[in-house]
Amino acid sequence: MSEPNQCNCGGDRRGFLKKILASAIGAVLTLVPAAAGLRVLLDPLRRKTAAGGAVLVTSLEALPADDVPRKFSVIADREDAWNKFQRVPVGAVYLRRTRGGKLEALNVVCPHAGCFVDFNAAKEKFICPCHNSSFAMDGKIADASSPAARGLDSLEVEVRNEREVWVKFQNFEAGKAKKIPV
Ligand code: FES
Repeated sequence: MSEPNQCNCGGDRRGFLKKILASAIGAVLTLVPAAAGLRVLLDPLRRKTAAGGAVLVTSLEALPADDVPRKFSVIADREDAWNKFQRVPVGAVYLRRTRGGKLEALNVVCPHAGCFVDFNAAKEKFICPCHNSSFAMDGKIADASSPAARGLDSLEVEVRNEREVWVKFQNFEAGKAKKIPV
């Protein structure tokens, strides 16, 4: 017979520890999937743009064959975790038709840190206003002191129906020497 006031401390402690362990396991089982879901929802790189495919940007009439780059907005459908947007600006490109009639497309985003580059007609160069990277008309780095690790990102471009200019619009990671799609 045990004394009525005798302590059953070992059993209490074990019960308490079991409860703590069960709570911890429950928290992990709840939080890990929730965190993974949040990452998917909040990660801007996972936002989808219909512009991953080709987008009609302009017509040949707007692009004289004079070697001069011209800037165009890219309008496309965009989708994120919560919403779908129809026909919104998703970026911009410089399009150029050479005197030989060749079409070229460059993303306007500077591959150094993501600013938009300007075309300087007098210098015949693209110049980034943020840290002065400069790029030749074909997008290659024009100045060895440019901080950008690669030239401007070229994009696939084609003419459809004899006059429509379609660009396969894509953004790439900044700060990398290689073109890595985002
Ligand atoms: S973002 Fe263009 S040079 Fe830095």
